[in-house]
Amino acid sequence: MNTVMKRESPVRVAFFDTKPYDREYFDAYKSSFNVEIKYFPSKLSADTASLAKGYDTVCAFVNDELDAPTADMLVEGGVRLVALRCAGYNNVDLKAVWGRLHVVRVPAYSPHAVAEHAIALLLTLNRKIHKSYIRTREGNFTLAGLVGFDLFGKTAGIIGTGQIGRITAEILKGFGMKVLATDPFPNEGWAAEKDIQYTTMEDLFRQSDVISLHCPLTPENHHLVNSESLAKMKKNAIIINTGRGALIDTKALIHALKTHSLGGAALDVYEEEDEYFFEDHSASVIKDDVLARLLTFPNVLITGHQAFLTHEALTAIATTTLGNIQNYFDSGDLSNEICYRCTQKTCSRKETGRCF
Ligand code: NAI
Repeated sequence: MNTVMKRESPVRVAFFDTKPYDREYFDAYKSSFNVEIKYFPSKLSADTASLAKGYDTVCAFVNDELDAPTADMLVEGGVRLVALRCAGYNNVDLKAVWGRLHVVRVPAYSPHAVAEHAIALLLTLNRKIHKSYIRTREGNFTLAGLVGFDLFGKTAGIIGTGQIGRITAEILKGFGMKVLATDPFPNEGWAAEKDIQYTTMEDLFRQSDVISLHCPLTPENHHLVNSESLAKMKKNAIIINTGRGALIDTKALIHALKTHSLGGAALDVYEEEDEYFFEDHSASVIKDDVLARLLTFPNVLITGHQAFLTHEALTAIATTTLGNIQNYFDSGDLSNEICYRCTQKTCSRKETGRCF
């Protein structure tokens, strides 16, 4: 890769998958940085990567594709940095880009935004607010079919106790729930302080009334919630997923919902979401039969990957992303780089085997 020298001219940024709220927040802060942004509505993929020719940086989001062919085209077009305006990076083929393009991300923008959305989903689904909202607007004030359960005294299971999982766990403790957790890197000090018990995945599935997913999507935990794990869950358990869609085998989830072996599911993410999420399909037919079937269940609540969408998070996303870009082109600072070696656990930068 080229050596970095502080530059006088603005860094040229090709911004993919632009939505109105992205533009609002990036436009509000860009004047504090030496950047020039061209907003493209298209998602990044091998089909659209040529748009970035001549730009220094590409700014991408969760459903932009950074696979090997896309990386080849970006490198050929002169791009040196990919600045993800998100935390997750399962859409990046790190092996293909490592050593050719630097990829930076926003490691934390507002873990509260996501944790609070997970709780909003849980409360809405459990207390059937999504149904009563529609009923009362039509003048129907009946209560039949709206029975929920007290969270107080129940057990919650948190899968992944990183920044978001820990906040979710603490909020659930506030409801008076017993909280179990699982993580390959347990944070024992935090758990002891907050009275949270680490346990095995198996035990968490068996004991929890509410299960909330807060781990990144990796090849190891693809379809972590599958027919086998669903069979272990309590009959009326509720699953909340604000992590990544492919943590759940959606067909197995549908089967569990159809056979009444699950209380419900509240999903902010879906494994095939890149076809539909973030766009208005209200005037067309949904051709994804799995998504269409999910939407028919009264005990399934879906939001379109909106957990991050708060003023605080959008502000932090814009300022951190612009800072990541500026820092690299000013001084070669790559503090928020995603390290391929870390993901392979061969990184020497941190004793934990992880850079982040
Ligand atoms: P983090 O990196 O702080 O924490 C993730 C935790 O998951 C780590 O402690 C890690 O050790 C653990 N983990 C990894 N594999 C695991 C496994 N198989 N089982 C249990 N734990 C495992 O990440 P953070 O900031 O808490 O975010 C979590 C995930 O939430 C992100 O990777 C992203 O996919 C998702 N996310 C979703 C958003 C939304 O708008 N819906 C917004 C931001 C993040």
